[in-house]
Amino acid sequence: MIALGAAPEPPRPPLRTDPDWAQADLRWIRGALARASARPSGGWLAVDATRALGARPRRYRVDGRDLVAWRDRERGRIRMGPDLCPHMGASLAEGHVERGCVVCPWHGLALRSEPDRGWRPLPVFDDGVLFWVQMPAEPRAGADAGEGDDPPTARPALPERPPRAIAAVMRMEARCEPQDVIANRLDPWHGVHFHPHSFGRLCVVDQQEDEITVRVVYRIAWRIGIEVDARFHCPDPRTIAMTIVAGEGTGSVVETHATPVGPGRTAILEATLATSSRPGFALASYTSRLVRPWIERAARRLWTEDAAYAERRYALRRGEIR
Ligand code: FES
Ligand SMILES: [Fe+2]
Repeated sequence: MIALGAAPEPPRPPLRTDPDWAQADLRWIRGALARASARPSGGWLAVDATRALGARPRRYRVDGRDLVAWRDRERGRIRMGPDLCPHMGASLAEGHVERGCVVCPWHGLALRSEPDRGWRPLPVFDDGVLFWVQMPAEPRAGADAGEGDDPPTARPALPERPPRAIAAVMRMEARCEPQDVIANRLDPWHGVHFHPHSFGRLCVVDQQEDEITVRVVYRIAWRIGIEVDARFHCPDPRTIAMTIVAGEGTGSVVETHATPVGPGRTAILEATLATSSRPGFALASYTSRLVRPWIERAARRLWTEDAAYAERRYALRRGEIR
């Protein structure tokens, strides 16, 4: 492989040199996943790219509930609530938006931020790249008071993001649970074998209790790539962030969020925030409309394969494959 651009410094030897299948550390993956799952989320679930919401309301199924999301341009906010009109049960997502309200298609009831006959809007957080909804905490079956609490917070726990970046978001769904998506990303050892089109060389250079760093060559074309150090960590139970910590594009972040859609179905949202200290990057950010679809296509290609990994892990856990 020929690596272009700034090589990551300092040179770091791989932690181990035996074959990847022998290195793949299932105990570590399970432990890191269990600790991530125990982290608080504040009840926040990533829904979609902020850019995905246009002038019309949209339906999203989140954790078994149909919700409607719309843009309140009057107040500069994204709003969400149950996709169920409190009058006679119409789908609000099939209505329209007028003066910041979602208007029911059946008899014209307008709803915004005030509860109405049992209909309650839900807290929404727009981080500029993704929007999130805060679901009401449901007491866990069999839990004592205070046990396993995930108290609501004012905002989701976001990983550190670069101040200036080209942002691209990919969303797809898979037949699995959020933990299967996170477990896939906690396994860097599959990279070169499962995605040979994207990774030319990959070795683990640091492995701590809750984070793992790899030195990896991303293929640009054929035998040409760029070499970076990428660190993975989980800021909340359903997010894994990859941060470029050395080499080309240091400070760039790829956030993978796994949001339950319903039993056995998960939405995978991947936000790439690409940055560079190179002088040409300012120009590149003007052309982000051209770069963004390219990043989204690359993320979708990788996730089409990784969703298959997550789905198989889910089927194995459920004893569907013997
Ligand atoms: S069902 Fe929505 S206004 Fe009647
Ligand atoms: Fe992968």
